[in-house]
Amino acid sequence: MSIVISGTKLALSIRERLSKDILVAAKIHGRVPKLAVILVGNDMGSLSYVKGKEKAAKEVGILIDTYHYQEDIKEIDVENKIRELNNDNSVDGILVQLPLPKHINTDYIINLVDPSKDVDGFHPRNVASLYLKQTGISPCTPKGVITLLDSKNITIEGKRAVVVGRSNIVGMPMAKMLLDRNATVTICHSRTKDLASITKEADILIACLGKAKYITADMVKEGAVVIDVGANKDPLTNKLCGDVDFDNVSLKASYITKVPGGVGPMTICCLLENTFIAYLGHFKK
Ligand code: GUN
Repeated sequence: MSIVISGTKLALSIRERLSKDILVAAKIHGRVPKLAVILVGNDMGSLSYVKGKEKAAKEVGILIDTYHYQEDIKEIDVENKIRELNNDNSVDGILVQLPLPKHINTDYIINLVDPSKDVDGFHPRNVASLYLKQTGISPCTPKGVITLLDSKNITIEGKRAVVVGRSNIVGMPMAKMLLDRNATVTICHSRTKDLASITKEADILIACLGKAKYITADMVKEGAVVIDVGANKDPLTNKLCGDVDFDNVSLKASYITKVPGGVGPMTICCLLENTFIAYLGHFKK
């Protein structure tokens, strides 16, 4: 039986510490951090993510302004809003909730965000900083996964880590962060042949492929650490579920995360941390 690493509990304790740090910093700098969120359309997932971010930000004392636009807003109007937020000295962080509608060029929009306010860590400059080991803002989900592993003192160095998924948001930066912690990393994806033979070698298995309960017990080594980044709708129950078949994999893993209550709260927590880091950075200029 495995130990469940609770992202909910860990996020709560990090948020408590962050609230205190924000209180102290606000006394010094005369204002609290501020995050601007751009949300386009009414995608259910995005609406719920943004609600979660708003609640968490308010709890730690970060001001949050959400600009919610209709699905058919013109790209130029989103562009103008980002330029305005870039120039607004009271705004520390800018987050563009993804996905954007098809008529808006996501890369173009992300590239417009001032890298020092890019709290998602998606701007090419921050992506390059991660790959070159320079100072920058790290993407929230992989940062949250590393924090979860560290919270249980799980050794990463020397371990065989397998990342299933190669998105720019999770899989790729996750692999780089594990590599930077001296794991031996393999990235698997939809074209990987005999996926199970590779995942079975993992001491640390990160599932971020976006397929409900795809990682089954026969794909996991006895005693592996299994981190589930998935956020899918269970086709049978319509409820939120991960990429890992938790009920069966938890019988084999040493440590495992659940969905919900695992990586999700950590992603939000790291977003708050990144906003605070961006805020502090703006006073160093
Ligand atoms: N959509 C799904 N995950 C994310 C995320 O981490 N950041 C943003 N901006 N949009 C998302």
